[in-house]
Amino acid sequence: MAIIFITGSTDGLGRAAAQSLVDQGHRVVLHARAADRAADIGEFASRCAGIVVGDLRSAADARSIADQVNAIGRMDTIIHNAGVYTRPDRGATPEGHAETLAINTLAPYMLTALIERPDRLVYLSSGLHRGGEGSLDDLDWTQRDWDSAKAYAESKLHVVALAFGLARRWPKVLSNAVDPGWVRTKMGGSGAPVDLHTGQQTQAWLAVSEEPAALVSGRYWHHLRREEPAREATDPDFQDALIERLGRLTGVPLPQT
Ligand SMILES: NC(=O)c1ccc[n+]([C@@H]2O[C@H](COP(=O)([O-])OP(=O)(O)OC[C@H]3O[C@@H](n4cnc5c(N)ncnc54)[C@H](OP(=O)(O)O)[C@@H]3O)[C@@H](O)[C@H]2O)c1
Repeated sequence: MAIIFITGSTDGLGRAAAQSLVDQGHRVVLHARAADRAADIGEFASRCAGIVVGDLRSAADARSIADQVNAIGRMDTIIHNAGVYTRPDRGATPEGHAETLAINTLAPYMLTALIERPDRLVYLSSGLHRGGEGSLDDLDWTQRDWDSAKAYAESKLHVVALAFGLARRWPKVLSNAVDPGWVRTKMGGSGAPVDLHTGQQTQAWLAVSEEPAALVSGRYWHHLRREEPAREATDPDFQDALIERLGRLTGVPLPQT
């Protein structure tokens, strides 16, 4: 049985994937934004291998989350699930970054670099990533007027490119990205067509399955099927340029091999 760390697992798809994996007999380390959100997990927490706490909009908290996970031990799989959708404005994190960039892109990058390397990495993207092309020109939204939908799309393109870049750099790690579809969660809203069970299935499967179909790397998935992501995500030059800029913005280098 595997041990899996899932970011943003107090609610929505992260919580649903945690439940599914625990029900299959796996050990899951949960993540909550703050202590009160950890308390909201209730009885389910006692069935899990631990809860780490920290707000992903803060680089200091991201470092603390990495330390907390490393103190528990090496994970077999990490599901980078936490994310935010449209924000009313750019905002500014404690480090001055755009909040969407910090939570959806910088945090998964930092956690990837700072947590002991697992066997498998899964990044939650979105079909909306296809609208994110061209993001490297102004990654941190310092030159453009704020466009929340575009910022979300860019962040979701980043995690596909990150997943694919890691698949190239770290050949022993299975690194994949998932579009869960439009799912009925706090983010997706009650009118979304996809139920939680279907929405969490692909990432939970990629996290633990020994089926040959799941033992691949550098792929983009939607409802248990492989799909083609946006062209930029598959471009090694884009992947390398993104990783280099994320390293500069965070001050955290990503090990080459
Ligand atoms: N739902 C959809 O239709 C859909 C479609 C495509 C992709 N996705 C992607 O799927 C992932 C999960 O989405 P969801 O629908 O499950 O969203 P959700 O219901 O809003 O849950 C998001 C989770 O992330 C956590 N989180 C948000 N900001 C955080 C922060 N600053 N620090 C720590 N944790 C934070 C939330 O914690 P709190 O509850 O404490 O805020 C929550 O546990 C996201 O990456 C999203 O982009 C979702």
